Amino acid sequence: MPELTATLVEVLQLGEELAGVLDLTPKFWPDPGQYLPAQSRVGKTELLPIHLFRIFGEESLLTVGPIPESWQPGEQISLLPPHGHGFALPFSACRVGLCAVDVSPSRLLSLVPLTLAQDAAVTLFCDHQPAPCILQRVPSVVEVAPLSALQENLDWPDFLAIDLPRGSLPHLAEILGEKSLLFDGQVLVRTDMPCHGLGECGVCAVETGHGSKLACVDGPVFPLKEVFHVAG
Ligand code: FES
Repeated sequence: MPELTATLVEVLQLGEELAGVLDLTPKFWPDPGQYLPAQSRVGKTELLPIHLFRIFGEESLLTVGPIPESWQPGEQISLLPPHGHGFALPFSACRVGLCAVDVSPSRLLSLVPLTLAQDAAVTLFCDHQPAPCILQRVPSVVEVAPLSALQENLDWPDFLAIDLPRGSLPHLAEILGEKSLLFDGQVLVRTDMPCHGLGECGVCAVETGHGSKLACVDGPVFPLKEVFHVAG
C-alpha cells in the first residue's frame, strides 16, 4: 500500500481534543467515518499509528482529528490511504439525526455538508453540551439538542448516525428504547486499532448480530441493526 506524505499546516484546539489541517491531495481524503493511519515523520515518536478521522471544517480543507499534542504546524506526516467503511448516507434521508454519546461530535459533523447537499434537516444530539469552539463551527441550519430530545422524539429521524466508544455500545438500547428501531442508522464504533487494518491482532473486535467483526476492516462504521441489542 503506497505511503503518502502531507504537511500539517494548522493545529486547532477543539474542546478537549486537538485537530489539524493537512495539505493532502483530495483523492486521498477519507469519507466521514473512514480513517487514515498516520505517523509524524519527526522523530517517529509514535510506536503505533494514530488514526485520523475527518472532522468538520471548511470543505476546501481536510481537517482531521484527534491529533497528538506533540504534533506541530509544518510537521511532515506519513499516512496510508483511507481505511475501513465510513458512513453511507441514504439518498432518501430527509431528517438526519447525528448522535454523539460519550464523545466529541466533531467526527459526526463531517456529515453535515452531505446532509445539507440533499436538503435534509439535521439535528445534532449530544449527551454533553459541545464546547463553544465546536458550536461556533456548526452551521446555523443544524439544530443542537440534548440526547433526551432524541429519546423523546424517536419518530423524528429517518436516519441516525451515531458515534460512541465500543464500551458504550450496551447503552444503545437504553438510549433508543428496547423496541424495534423506527429508523435506519449507522454507528461509528471508537476502539483502539493497533494493527491499523492488517486484521491480525483482534484488539478491535466488535460483537455484532453476525458474530464478532473487526472495527479496523469491517468498520469502524457498522449498521445500527447489527450492533443494536447485541453488545453488552
Ligand atoms: S486493529 Fe488489529 S485486527 Fe483490528
